[in-house]
Amino acid sequence: MPSGTGLFVTFEGGEGAGKSTQIRRLAEALRGRGYEVLLTREPGGSPGAEAVRHVLLSGAAEAFGTRMEAILFAAARNDHVEEVIRPALMSGKVVLCDRFMDSSRVYQGVTGNLESEFIEALQRAAVNGIVPDCTLILDLPARAGLERARRRGAAGDVSPDRFEKEELETHEKRREAFLDIAAREPNRCRVIDAMQTEEAIAAEIVEIIWQRLSHPAAAKVAEAAHE
Ligand code: TYD
Repeated sequence: MPSGTGLFVTFEGGEGAGKSTQIRRLAEALRGRGYEVLLTREPGGSPGAEAVRHVLLSGAAEAFGTRMEAILFAAARNDHVEEVIRPALMSGKVVLCDRFMDSSRVYQGVTGNLESEFIEALQRAAVNGIVPDCTLILDLPARAGLERARRRGAAGDVSPDRFEKEELETHEKRREAFLDIAAREPNRCRVIDAMQTEEAIAAEIVEIIWQRLSHPAAAKVAEAAHE
């Protein structure tokens, strides 16, 4: 792709929705089609942001309150955007990011009870104009997500962080909050039913992204009709 015309795709959703598997599958599919892909994640993705990730996920910042955590997530995001995401998009890459600004809106804003004005102001500063072209929201009932996340923790695959210890009610609130974002920003967001098989989800995602890549304008029109 020519310089400055990369595509920025973010994956969002609760724990256990299968984001990591699907993001890897999409990266493989795109690379197979000759695209240059940058696979990254939040919190983290750049050396500065990875240092902050440790502080956030270990729970070390918890004692200082949600506002402090939200600012730390935003600081990490800004470093990630400026050091990694913006340069990759400028060189024409497809950037796939596991979680981004919508996670802050949902986890810190909605379930962290922070005012939306504060969260939105933080996001504007953090992303500094780099808004995703497409956000895939992997949606599944809270109970299913929590069970999958717990199994994953028990299997020792990924150690459960403090966020994963939270209750079903919180998960349901988050699910609703992601769906609200999708309803408010239908051009950017697509909701994917994460209860489908891994294969079916992967195929649906490839189709959405392929449309965006091959006919960016047509994809927008199709989505407007879909809304
Ligand atoms: P991680 O171990 O990367 O897991 P996963 O994305 O598979 O859930 O944990 C990231 C955690 O950080 C996750 O529980 C959501 C939380 N988070 C926020 O609270 N705000 C944010 O802005 C981001 C990016 C993540």
